[in-house]
Amino acid sequence: MEEAVRVQDVLTGSLDGKEVLVRGWLQNKRSSGGIVFLFIRDGSGVVQSTVRKGEVDSKVFDLFLSTRIESSVQVEGEVKPDPRAPGGREIVVHSGKVDSAALEEFPIAKQFQGPDFLLDKRHLFVRSDKMRAVLKVRAVVLSAARSWLDSHDYLEVQVPTLTSAAVEGGATLFEVKYFDGKAYLTQSWQLYAEALIASVGKIYTIAPSFRAEKSRTRRHLTEYWHLEAEAPYVGLDGIMEVEEQLLSHVVEDLLERASSQLALFERRPEDLEKVKPPFPRITYDDAFKMIGGEKSGIKWGDDLGYEQEKILTTHFDRPFFVTRYPKKAKAFYHKPDPLNPEVTLSVDLLAPEGYGEITGGGQRIEDYGALVARIKEEGLDPESYAWYLDLRKFGSVPHSGFGMGLERVVSWVCRLEHIRDAIAFPRLINRVYP
Ligand code: 4AD
Ligand code: MG
Repeated sequence: MEEAVRVQDVLTGSLDGKEVLVRGWLQNKRSSGGIVFLFIRDGSGVVQSTVRKGEVDSKVFDLFLSTRIESSVQVEGEVKPDPRAPGGREIVVHSGKVDSAALEEFPIAKQFQGPDFLLDKRHLFVRSDKMRAVLKVRAVVLSAARSWLDSHDYLEVQVPTLTSAAVEGGATLFEVKYFDGKAYLTQSWQLYAEALIASVGKIYTIAPSFRAEKSRTRRHLTEYWHLEAEAPYVGLDGIMEVEEQLLSHVVEDLLERASSQLALFERRPEDLEKVKPPFPRITYDDAFKMIGGEKSGIKWGDDLGYEQEKILTTHFDRPFFVTRYPKKAKAFYHKPDPLNPEVTLSVDLLAPEGYGEITGGGQRIEDYGALVARIKEEGLDPESYAWYLDLRKFGSVPHSGFGMGLERVVSWVCRLEHIRDAIAFPRLINRVYP
């Protein structure tokens, strides 16, 4: 196959005046008189290619005139600057062909189509400008996060997806048949991470987590991508510093490497330029007061839900930490605050503009007896956590960690209405297709 150039390279201007081959999918098409404008997408960008009657073989002209959008095509022609063309350049086509003609009209149209229809056609909707931008933003977030963690001596490690016990409470566990017994899909790598820090020190992972979330909200997926980190000899304040530095680095990289994608979502750089350490910090007690106490619909001790976080975010124009949640609002492993054991050394990071929680974490209980007591207090069976309890018998040290939901971060930076649009093929309470 002949070498094609990348559309992205055509649009930089470095190929002006040159004869190039471009191939890809026909994203859009317009014709007027003796001209057909083809908008060809190759994954790196979209370029206008102009086919003029008389300047190409008449069979080629008729072919492009009649071919449907989302056919795969290739054209050869000269790159010319043209201020009227999107991206400022066009290809003046000399020859071309249709590699695979679309067999039907592309079902996704310009006019309004309902969300359920578009979700059913997700395998085709992923070709849209918005989905392509989201995919790029996701990739930049992960690559930036990896580079920050790698350069701060965090080792990337992997743990099983099939597990034997809950991390974040039994209510959202997915049970799967495991030969003659049963297993669960992981909610978090955390318990395994606590084992591995005694082997290799500071660690992180990027992997899917699963939650059988019965709530249909705009921020819950049943399968999401979870970036988690864990570190020995780090306390609550230390882990907050890690989180704010990591997120600031991610945002800085996004501004540099995904500015056109962010612009598509009308996310202004000024909003993200504010994301610099230190982030504001408030306690759960402060938060409870700020949202008007019980008027907000919860009692002291309850976890902050979407509604409460939404009110809270109106007080901030950048991400902020909420620390020291009551014991009752958090999972069994959170270390009670020695100064007030009713609350824990826990922390959530909340994004502004109503988005709310994007990370959860904090300091873990390191004492054997205290951990057994908390497991029992929560009505859990210490037997199911036998290996986890073992970790407190052999050189237990203070340690902390957190988990960041990739789609929560992407929803916020891209100003998405619903988390389902932050992932190519969302898994929701009522959807595992396509
Ligand atoms: O707050 P969570 O439940 O915390 C944990 O799982 C800890 N064990 C993590 C740790 O300390 N290593 O989940 C962490 C983050 C949330 O802040 C949120 O961003 C995301 O995971 N998350 C979800 N994202 C999409 N859909 C869901 N159903 C999510 N549930 C949690
Ligand atoms: Mg949480």
